[in-house]
Amino acid sequence: MTKKVYIKSYGCQMNVYDSERMGDILGKEGFDPAPGPDQADLVILNTCHIREKAAEKVYSDIGRLRALKEKKSKAGGDMVIAVAGCVGQAEGAEIMRRAPAVELVFGPQTYHRLPALLKKVGEDKKAAGKARVLDTDLPVNEKFEFLAGAPQKSGPSAFLTIQEGCDKFCTFCVVPYTRGGEFSRPSADIYNEAKALVASGAVDITLLGQNVNAYHGADDGLAGLIRGLAVIPGLQRIRYTTSHPRDMDEDLIKVHAEVPQCMPYMHLPVQSGSDKILKAMNRRHTVSDYMVWIEKIRKARPDIALSSDFIVGFPGETDADFAATLRLVRDVEYAQAYSFKYSPRPGTPAAVSKEQVAEDVKAERLKELQDLLNTHQRAFNGKMVGRNVEVLFERPGKFPGQIVGRSPYMQAVHVSLGDNADEAYDKGQEDLSALNSKNYMGRLVNVEITKAGPNSLEGKLVVPSKTRTAA
Ligand code: 5AD
Ligand code: SF4
Repeated sequence: MTKKVYIKSYGCQMNVYDSERMGDILGKEGFDPAPGPDQADLVILNTCHIREKAAEKVYSDIGRLRALKEKKSKAGGDMVIAVAGCVGQAEGAEIMRRAPAVELVFGPQTYHRLPALLKKVGEDKKAAGKARVLDTDLPVNEKFEFLAGAPQKSGPSAFLTIQEGCDKFCTFCVVPYTRGGEFSRPSADIYNEAKALVASGAVDITLLGQNVNAYHGADDGLAGLIRGLAVIPGLQRIRYTTSHPRDMDEDLIKVHAEVPQCMPYMHLPVQSGSDKILKAMNRRHTVSDYMVWIEKIRKARPDIALSSDFIVGFPGETDADFAATLRLVRDVEYAQAYSFKYSPRPGTPAAVSKEQVAEDVKAERLKELQDLLNTHQRAFNGKMVGRNVEVLFERPGKFPGQIVGRSPYMQAVHVSLGDNADEAYDKGQEDLSALNSKNYMGRLVNVEITKAGPNSLEGKLVVPSKTRTAA
């Protein structure tokens, strides 16, 4: 009988990648994916520790799972609850103390040991009725050596971790403690993984790393890696995230101007527009350093969609510091951005600062910042109306006949096939063999944008002009 596993991912895209790899590893161990926790023999919570709220959610989820586990064992069954990811790494011992229903905890650098860990869980349960297995080592390199050559299943868009961990120690951030020191995977492994992803259906690959532009596994860094990947036939779109202003270089900017597969989108977090706060955050760059990069990027690729992360209410942030952040946002006009209230994280230097900002002040600042960011996002989306953009369709929409994809600028684009699919089909648009939304999945199709919302666009398929004249 096959066993079933349910994996829930919290937080960042790297966790999504890690969860997929756990699924691959467990697939070899005879596990099939379960549609929900109630049908699973093993539930893995792949957790996020970046802000307090994310970490707390895990404990409430464990509570719900405990009830399910009890119900199952009363009916003669069983379910193993495992906590993986950054909360596991940072709070492994505390989870074991707070949550007796959890039988296995491991961190982001040891999930390749899952087969051995599960074996241990099984043995302990046999011997003692329950298990309490904890593995929060931070071995360098071992995981990626194991993952090289792992089988890949892929949809049209895939993630590929190329760099992990961080040595920068921004004073607010848990990443250097939960993911460990910076590590770049060898470029040969990355090429092989990318080729395998493309062979199994990926058209768009996002290269992942906490400091992705610090990648140094190829002679000429991330720029060289992207140039190398761009020659893989069938790989049409390359993205990367997250970049650090300290690791920006001219060559990467050149890639945006020269390599057509490199998408016009860059996530370059600045966190704050105040030099005083940037210094206290240990970001090791100034506002003007950042603005110089923005100018260079825009010069190389004027249409680029810029994105950032912001933290408001960092310890010591005054009204004037916050005003400087708003000023920077007005200067850059981001296409989109993420913004957060500062959340003190145990073990990080800023958490023990005496200059903590009051919660209501943080909330007010966050609202003001988000209102401004939303105005710019709406303006960026609004400028797309009337334009033709290439959309990679990835999934069916909520309504019948609707399909959803992404523009080069990362915007979600909704198309209702009912609108002009017949016309496209009659005029022989490429090789559409039937009017079925499945035909569009994984394909790049020209779409005329007809409407822009705050978070997505609407459009209709464009009948290629060559078939138009032929008809
Ligand atoms: N509080 C609030 N936001 C944080 N981030 C990281 N640590 C914290 C924290 N302690 C944000 C940063 C980072 C993004 C991934 O999360 O903006 O770029
Ligand atoms: Fe965290 Fe700073 Fe490293 Fe980014 S660069 S992962 S914010 S410590």
